[in-house]
Amino acid sequence: MKERIELLKADFEEAIGAVKSSEAAEKLRIAYLGKKGYVTELLKGLKDVSGEQKKEMGLHINQLKKYAEESISAQLKNIKDEEIARMVDAAEKYDVTIPFSGKSGSFSPITLVQRQVEDIFASMGFTIEDYSEIVNDYECFESLNIPKHHPARDMQDTYYLENGQLLKTHTSAAQNAIMKKYGPPLRVIFPGRCFRNESTDASHENTFFQMEGIMIDKDISISNLIYFMKTMLSDVFDRDITVRLRPGFFPFVEPGFELDIGCLICGGDGCPSCKNSGWLELCPCGMIHPRVLEMAGIDPEEYTGFAFGLGLTRLAMMKYGIKDIRGFNSGNLKALSQFRHV
Ligand code: FA5
Repeated sequence: MKERIELLKADFEEAIGAVKSSEAAEKLRIAYLGKKGYVTELLKGLKDVSGEQKKEMGLHINQLKKYAEESISAQLKNIKDEEIARMVDAAEKYDVTIPFSGKSGSFSPITLVQRQVEDIFASMGFTIEDYSEIVNDYECFESLNIPKHHPARDMQDTYYLENGQLLKTHTSAAQNAIMKKYGPPLRVIFPGRCFRNESTDASHENTFFQMEGIMIDKDISISNLIYFMKTMLSDVFDRDITVRLRPGFFPFVEPGFELDIGCLICGGDGCPSCKNSGWLELCPCGMIHPRVLEMAGIDPEEYTGFAFGLGLTRLAMMKYGIKDIRGFNSGNLKALSQFRHV
């Protein structure tokens, strides 16, 4: 048996040197370590080996097994490294002197509508902030008056990372940091990409954009909130659109509202984009909860404020008549490039 093990090891050494692709590595792995592979065959043969020898042969077989496993993963790593090096090499070889072909890229409709909303709020004295996509539990939930095990967490199916951080489920995750950064009075908007592990349909994606806005000052009231929402929407659409405000629950605002817009795809008759209701949830909002202000070091006796979370991707759908939200992430350049000249 010992000779057989040595022979297999020598054959393996020769074979691994010739492996140049991950498919070839997998073939070799199956030949040696698979269910019907040489190593398994050797292990089965152990039953015919006598007492003392059994222990020794077992040791040799395990050494061969470990050697084969380690060599295959090392070779796979080499193959991957070489592949990356080849890609980097190829990526760098472009010719800057080639004349422009006339085929320029185009902005995504989301970028176009984001810029428009940014301009509108900037003209009303709002600062524009950026915030990271990876946040922690405090930023996304606790600082928003959503303690651990609060049922409101179920409304947003969260992607958690192995290190305990998470992918931002809503732009509200930046509220606390931005309030602390500026202090009152403040007017800030902060667009961002959000992630939720939910099933997709014509108006739901697992990756979508929101734009958060907060305004904090002395004597800010619901009238201010409604004024800013109306101004923003009539400027974006450049015409009168139907909106409705209804009570909505979010632990970080009190009172809270859902601001819906009459579906512009079907004109309110009902279609898949609005789940046949004629209305599309677009921009929940409300007066910032005193506890949220307190957690950011702002005295709720002195200051009040409003916050809103605009569904930017849905706004782009309504603005450009895009029936299905899934088109945005589809990579379908033909569909997206029609907005080049908008
Ligand atoms: C929130 O995310 C709250 N943070 C909004 C908020 C901010 C309320 C400030 C009060 C004060 P909601 O989960 O409803 O709420 O999402 C807000 C908007 O984002 C929705 O109205 C919708 O327009 C958009 N949205 C939410 N989920 C998706 C999704 N899966 N796909 C596309 N758009 C979505």
